[in-house]
Amino acid sequence: GKIVLTGIKPTGDLHIGNYVGAIRPAIELTQEPGVKPVYFIADYHALTTMRDPKELHDRTYEIAAAWIAFGLDPDKVLFYRQSDIPEIFELTWILSCLASKGLLNRAHAYKAKVEENLKAGRDPDTGVNMGFFNYPVLMAADILLFKTDLVPVGKDQIQHVEIARDIAENFNRTYGETFRLPEALIDEATAVIPGLDGRKMSKSYGNVIPLFSDEKTLKKLIFRIKTDSKPPEEPKDPEESTLFHIYRGFAEKEEVEALARRYWEGIGYGEVKNMLFELLNRKLVEPRRIYRELIDDKAKLDKWLAEGAEKAREIARPFMNDIRKKIGRLL
Ligand code: TYM
Repeated sequence: GKIVLTGIKPTGDLHIGNYVGAIRPAIELTQEPGVKPVYFIADYHALTTMRDPKELHDRTYEIAAAWIAFGLDPDKVLFYRQSDIPEIFELTWILSCLASKGLLNRAHAYKAKVEENLKAGRDPDTGVNMGFFNYPVLMAADILLFKTDLVPVGKDQIQHVEIARDIAENFNRTYGETFRLPEALIDEATAVIPGLDGRKMSKSYGNVIPLFSDEKTLKKLIFRIKTDSKPPEEPKDPEESTLFHIYRGFAEKEEVEALARRYWEGIGYGEVKNMLFELLNRKLVEPRRIYRELIDDKAKLDKWLAEGAEKAREIARPFMNDIRKKIGRLL
């Protein structure tokens, strides 16, 4: 079978970009024969930026509840919290020693931070902690420890999967065939869901539509999505419209084609916003209800996380032993 693995970082509200880019494709894959799904909460990745212990704790449970709300079957999916698996962190150190600093210098998030600092006339590494710099290596350990074949993610994570491959190849060259080479799995149509301002929807841009906002907030946010000032009757290119891109992330193919035709004929943005609200609300009303119930049932989530950790370590332990042998720690 093919091992499919993905993780979500518990920072900020989960948003519709996370859902369309990662959660939905990951859930759909669990229905396919021969797929072994491995999904986890990347809580120690969140530590690169998060300093509020209560927030880290609460956000972790929110992600667990969200997966269930969207239909993840706990009997079919290996699901755990990253920090429950110490083998991941041991492997991170070993992989750090096989990752060149130059490779990590080129990682998008770090490079962007350096450029921002230089532009502001600051030291290039201002505000950069070693966890942030080493982020892609921790992610490589997440992926490689479970012998992952496919990583369903949004476009912003492609480079991280490529870095994991690079590090795996280097290890294999040095110590012999050990790691499987993972591939990112991207749905081109939904790989980047735009946010309220038209840029990529992102916790760090503050332009998100949270997945579990109540109906009123959802409507308010949708009506805040930026549009141009073309009058209703003027023909419009749907590809240039944030509203259209979000609609396409949720609607059936025929509905998308129908809306595209309306754009070319001329449609008012108010009408599109109403259509988008109806669509999103219809898709999210049931998950929202389940999520609200679960988020108050910590005991249930705890039990589930504990079972997941147990099963994940059963897989991680023997493989980590192999790796220890390869590097000469155990012979
Ligand atoms: P995170 O938590 O930032 O995002 C979770 C997933 O959501 C996708 N995503 C989007 N997809 C489409 N449009 C958007 N606007 C959008 N915004 C976010 C992301 O691509 C991601 O798939 N580093 C990862 C977490 C991680 C991980 C891993 C993922 C840690 N270890 C191992 C896969 C495998 C992250 O920060 O995702």
